[in-house]
Amino acid sequence: MRLVFASTTKDPQPWQAELLRHLPELDFRVWPDPGLDPATVDYVLVWKPELGVIGRFPRLKAILSLGAGVDHILSDPGLPDAVPIVRMVDPALTRGMVEYVVHWVLHVHRDFHLYRDLQARRQWEQLGAPETSEARVGVMGLGVLGSACAKALAGLGFDVAGWDLAAKEIPGVRLYVGNEALPEFLARTQILVLQLPATAATRGILDARALATLPEGAAVINPARGELIVEKDLLGALETHSIGYAVLDVFATEPLSPRHPFWNHPKVTVTPHIASLTMVPSAAQAIAANIRRIERGETPFPLAHREAGF
Ligand code: GLV
Repeated sequence: MRLVFASTTKDPQPWQAELLRHLPELDFRVWPDPGLDPATVDYVLVWKPELGVIGRFPRLKAILSLGAGVDHILSDPGLPDAVPIVRMVDPALTRGMVEYVVHWVLHVHRDFHLYRDLQARRQWEQLGAPETSEARVGVMGLGVLGSACAKALAGLGFDVAGWDLAAKEIPGVRLYVGNEALPEFLARTQILVLQLPATAATRGILDARALATLPEGAAVINPARGELIVEKDLLGALETHSIGYAVLDVFATEPLSPRHPFWNHPKVTVTPHIASLTMVPSAAQAIAANIRRIERGETPFPLAHREAGF
């Protein structure tokens, strides 16, 4: 079986080495490969591939994503219709996201961002101890990553709620389902964690209106997708203090332009899309397991839903 690796940003070499350890019979190719007959390719393994590349292979058994999100695949207008798209679910990727979210929720909950400013002013001031069980955290998007974050935060004693378009059940987490429940969910959320995919239903979901529904001084943590937030609306809300702090790992345009006001905004932490990086050893194991499933005639896991956009 033959696989083509196509990415505008990732190095194929570690993936090749690790995948061949699990699947020695795999013919691993890297796009572009001028000598390759496209009709002999069974799989494409992709992260932000060039537009149109996936559509060149007429006999694909599956499109395998190197990341949790599949928006980098679905945005290709030349995507073949009937080929299954397999998302990346990997315990190491989930753990990385939980670490990022727990770190930053604790950071803003314990006012460490404010202590940093006090230190800069050489000012010795104790801001008081916030009560964890009274801190209302809201996780928007309860897929694999969002559910794991909500569970971990509830385990730390936060008052956690979750919002999703579909009903989910997470012990210890209050659920809000559907667009009609969104204002109520936002109104009770002091620390908002975005875990939604970027789809037609979610792009721009955090606009001026949604930001104004959050309580005064709320914090926003976005390690999901930049397109979820209307950036100029967030800048406006930070200006008027309606939003107290933002931790942003993802942006409408990446890399973030050196001229972007987020970089040196006193109320913004910027990280460069590192909340959870796909780890080669465990992710390659997940990919190899899915290729074996497909070769045995079984369904790979988990499949993306094209209509839903994730
Ligand atoms: C990263 O953004 C991913 O989708 O895994």
